Amino acid sequence: MKKKLIVGNWKMNGSLAANQALLDGLTAGAATAACGVAVCVPAPYWSQVQALLASSAIFLGAQDVSQHASGAYTGELSPGMLKEFGVRYAIVGHSERRQYHGETDEVVAAKTQCALANGVTPIVCVGETLAEREAGKTEEVVKRQLAAVIHANGHCISEIVLAYEPVWAIGTGKTATPEQAQQVHALLRAQLRAASNHADLIPILYGGSMNAANAANLLSQVDIDGGLVGGASLKVADFLAIVAAAQ
Ligand code: 13P
Repeated sequence: MKKKLIVGNWKMNGSLAANQALLDGLTAGAATAACGVAVCVPAPYWSQVQALLASSAIFLGAQDVSQHASGAYTGELSPGMLKEFGVRYAIVGHSERRQYHGETDEVVAAKTQCALANGVTPIVCVGETLAEREAGKTEEVVKRQLAAVIHANGHCISEIVLAYEPVWAIGTGKTATPEQAQQVHALLRAQLRAASNHADLIPILYGGSMNAANAANLLSQVDIDGGLVGGASLKVADFLAIVAAAQ
């Protein structure tokens, strides 16, 4: 069976003291985890978290990455900068970036390309809003979002991690049912298969109110290869319970 991957997205949370306490708990509790584990932390804490994870199997991730390698792009973070701090993963195209920072499918595709070209694994997020789901447009929306990334990245698409995050399930406590999530994961898998011979190796994570109580059911679905966890990744016991459900 494919090894699952559980990724915490801390979003804009944390402090030097809180990070230390959280990672002390996670490194102790996840020492023998049979799944992959990563935490995507705010950029100012990369250095701190790199040091705290130095002798652990937990990977460090970023929450965004520029589509440019360097230059006059104030406030942006290049993949080269990520690499200097041992950052292995970068979330790309999170719905909060699409919504609050106007990131289009094309920008998300370009960021994915820049990350891959520079040795950072992008965790590419797709997902429909509540209005889109209610209008019966879920399939159309997630396929359009993924198609842009496939178009720009060609056969390199097999190097990405994909995450399905229904926007209506993020931070709302409303999780997609395992069946709803599996249905979308299956169609994303089919779209990846049409683009790559290695599609079955691409991890497709589910994100949106994943927690200690619902993780096992979601992770038991055939095309759900892991989780992208927001709120529950900030609590040691909750995140470790999700990691345990992924064994
Ligand atoms: P929640 O787990 O808080 O719903 O957030 C999900 C998410 O957006 C992870 O990227």
